[in-house]
Amino acid sequence: MYERMGKAMNNDLKEKTAIVTGASRGIGKALACTAASLGINLTIAARNTAPLEETAREIERIYKVEILPVACDVTKLEDLENLVNKTKKKFGKIDILINNAGVSSQYPFEKQPFSDFESLVHTNYLGYVRLIRLVINDMIEAKSGAIINLVSGSTLCDPLPRNFLVYSSLKVGLRAFSKGLFWEMRDRGIKITSILPGVTDTDLTGKLKEITTDTSRLMTTEAIENALKFALTVPLNVCPLEITVINQQTPWTQPVIPFKQEHPTS
Ligand SMILES: NC(=O)c1ccc[n+]([C@@H]2O[C@H](COP(=O)([O-])OP(=O)(O)OC[C@H]3O[C@@H](n4cnc5c(N)ncnc54)[C@H](OP(=O)(O)O)[C@@H]3O)[C@@H](O)[C@H]2O)c1
Repeated sequence: MYERMGKAMNNDLKEKTAIVTGASRGIGKALACTAASLGINLTIAARNTAPLEETAREIERIYKVEILPVACDVTKLEDLENLVNKTKKKFGKIDILINNAGVSSQYPFEKQPFSDFESLVHTNYLGYVRLIRLVINDMIEAKSGAIINLVSGSTLCDPLPRNFLVYSSLKVGLRAFSKGLFWEMRDRGIKITSILPGVTDTDLTGKLKEITTDTSRLMTTEAIENALKFALTVPLNVCPLEITVINQQTPWTQPVIPFKQEHPTS
């Protein structure tokens, strides 16, 4: 019986190719390293070339996988098309998409700049959906594929965390989209998984001053890396639809937060 389970879990990841967006630092870099540690060849993407290429060199040196860094702004459709085309040219196929590139913005709603709305919609929602649309037809044809979307533990809060309404409501939309896509794709061999991280110690949260005053409240990326490993190594006929890894200690990611959350007002 154990032998059978072992066989079911061997998805032969060494033959696979993945795209990881937002892979130059933070959670994306940690997930790119995790995928590489499983023997997966990678295209990694971010806007700034220097840190992206540095990450590529680091991953190649440590994990000895093939790696292609592609400068890409996920808010631009032509950049996403270029990312997919370059990956297919180098590797011939895309087995796994790790949609991770994201931006954050913390404002009381009445003070939030209009430019923030555009940036959040185009990066954290449209960037994900467009890239999935660009890779999914090949996955449908291949009758296999895995799409991992980095959502957010804030989607568990009701009402949404103060000062993060636009960010969190777009993540709620992304989470709903991912669940719906799971039902559309489940009979076609394609797995759709949302990972919902809690507040994690990255540049994105470095700006959240009230959290970083007590850094013991932040998670490292370790649990998120384990979530990715889990998603990629479950038996072939199983799909982890959502994996939530939240902190024990932040007031944000309780299922229901009191109306008067302790957040800054400016
Ligand atoms: N950190 C948390 O507490 C937390 C919690 C829940 C969910 N998440 C989600 O996890 C994901 C990663 O967050 P993180 O904390 O790792 O962020 P991070 O440390 O700020 O890193 C963001 C990454 O995305 C890239 N990026 C940003 N905008 C981009 C764009 N328009 N096009 C392409 N790449 C872009 C950045 O590189 P460039 O700047 O060079 O483009 C960087 O590689 C996000 O989707 C975030 O919403 C984070």
